[in-house]
Amino acid sequence: MNILLLGSGGREHALAWKMAQSERLTQLFIAPGNAGTALVGTNVNINPNDFEAIKTFVMDKNINLIVVGPEEPLVRGIKDFVLNDQQIAHVPVIGPGKEGAQLEGSKEFAKAFMMRHNIPTAAYLSVTQSNLDEGIAFLKTLKAPYVLKADGLAAGKGVLILDDLAEAEAELKEMLSGKFGDASSTVVIEEFLSGIELSVFVLTDGHGYVVLPEAKDYKRIGEGDTGLNTGGMGAVSPVPFADETFMKKVHERIVLPTVEGLKKDNIPYKGFVFIGLMSVEGEPFVIEYNVRMGDPETEVVVPRIKSDLVELFEAVAAGELRKKTIEVDERSATTVMCVSGGYPGSYEKGKVISGLDAITEGLVFHAGTAQKDGEVVTAGGRVIALTAYGTNKDEALKQSFKNAQTINYEGKYFRSDIGFDL
Ligand code: AMP
Ligand code: GLY
Repeated sequence: MNILLLGSGGREHALAWKMAQSERLTQLFIAPGNAGTALVGTNVNINPNDFEAIKTFVMDKNINLIVVGPEEPLVRGIKDFVLNDQQIAHVPVIGPGKEGAQLEGSKEFAKAFMMRHNIPTAAYLSVTQSNLDEGIAFLKTLKAPYVLKADGLAAGKGVLILDDLAEAEAELKEMLSGKFGDASSTVVIEEFLSGIELSVFVLTDGHGYVVLPEAKDYKRIGEGDTGLNTGGMGAVSPVPFADETFMKKVHERIVLPTVEGLKKDNIPYKGFVFIGLMSVEGEPFVIEYNVRMGDPETEVVVPRIKSDLVELFEAVAAGELRKKTIEVDERSATTVMCVSGGYPGSYEKGKVISGLDAITEGLVFHAGTAQKDGEVVTAGGRVIALTAYGTNKDEALKQSFKNAQTINYEGKYFRSDIGFDL
């Protein structure tokens, strides 16, 4: 079959790398892809949000399956677009429709969903200009720190955690007055949960589901989890504290009610559910849902899946995922992200990357790279993810760090403490 994968990051390189190993695959296209995806498929210069261009490509190249990497095309309704177009309606899309994508696209929607289906999450109140007084009263019932979330997509910047009540009130007002544009015209105020985070990934066809390996990512730019938030600086899978007892709770209290909840709400859902969890003294709570895989979590989750990913996607498309199980590699996988100097603030692009050929052990997933005059150059904030396997996380990390040292470009930075808290 011919597959079109949308996206251009490390997540997409990892998905492309895995799909390219499938005997079910004929041709793999990545739109727009990066210098890494070009090694395992064919990049096509199409913006994942340009649905008309995607349609033309799907018809030209006889595409049999569309896999959506990032959330934006999903929240904008790529799935509905395909389903409602007679010429391409037969092409399955891995990813939910617009309504299901609200699990990520609207924090308010996600919270209401969790309440409706008794899924453990932090107490909350949804606030707009019209009930601002109620919002301020709710803040006063909470203990510091205070969590404020823009309802809509805000490029990962829409969550504020504030230590001071007066500051929280002021920020709430600013958010409602458009600090994050339309995304914060509604704000979710949440109780702060104290614990350790991890992410669980589910692939579902709306009925059956498989739980993929869990992972922990490291979002802050600085060592010891300090400084600004990034897309993610590294990841580890498995997560040692996610033992059998904990995962059983996740399964029963969260995964199952989520899939069942979608069904009860009549929301067809064929795709990934990424569940961001907080373990509060061993009890799992949902921090957020995403409707896609995580990045850089995919760079450790996918390498641990032994099963054929294309076959799993075909089962999702056919609504036959119930018949499937997945086989998981028992080894640990870790990834260390090399980023551009200055990231997550402003940074320069176009720096020549050297040393890629010197890496002999481990996997190299390109995140923000491009090809230029026969060389691989930096083209984003997150540049390259160095994934390695080991019998335990320390062994894997040793190789990931070694590989992060082996590659070079002007301004290279990576965190040398990934996994420090496990
Ligand atoms: P989100 O975009 O919802 O994942 O939030 C971004 C980050 O803020 C999360 O990864 C958590 O580290 C933190 N966070 C969000 N909600 C809470 C909460 N209720 N309690 C504690 N930390 C939170
Ligand atoms: N690494 C976090 C995310 O993909 O949202």
